[in-house]
Amino acid sequence: MAKSKNAAALTPEKLNVGLDDDKRTGIVDTLNVLLADEFLLYTKTRNYHWNVMGPRFHDLHLFFEKQYEQLDELMDDVAENARQFGGFASGTMAEYVETSRLKESPGKHPGEDEMISDLLADHETIIRALRKDIEKAGKKYDAADAADFLTRVLEEHNKMAWMLRACLARP
Ligand SMILES: [Fe+2]
Repeated sequence: MAKSKNAAALTPEKLNVGLDDDKRTGIVDTLNVLLADEFLLYTKTRNYHWNVMGPRFHDLHLFFEKQYEQLDELMDDVAENARQFGGFASGTMAEYVETSRLKESPGKHPGEDEMISDLLADHETIIRALRKDIEKAGKKYDAADAADFLTRVLEEHNKMAWMLRACLARP
């Protein structure tokens, strides 16, 4: 039996979708780790939306707002995907902080470029992790649907990362 990070990763309902419980547990765990990453990055992006200061305040304030709105939608999709595979979606801050592959820096107030670089690094961390998760979803858990979903999430992060990178570029 695959070891779940959550005490009760799977819901009691029986699913007859061609995936045994071990495989579904693996997929649900993968999605819950990703959900924790999305939540931390969402929170960090909101923090920067609130606290950015400097000559680009107006643009960055709005840009960060657009990005956290995208992350909000994305994490909703990730949580609901865990439910579709017959698992519970994590919904507590304690689980997010414990599970996430990202790090927060409480009490720090970085400058404009540092905020952008920090968000970019987190998107890239998620993108690298997703490449491994996609491989695992397809090969280990035999779930092409989960791999496709994770690929769509990766594409969203690629786009957000590009926009952050472009803000740092000096022509
Ligand atoms: Fe706002």
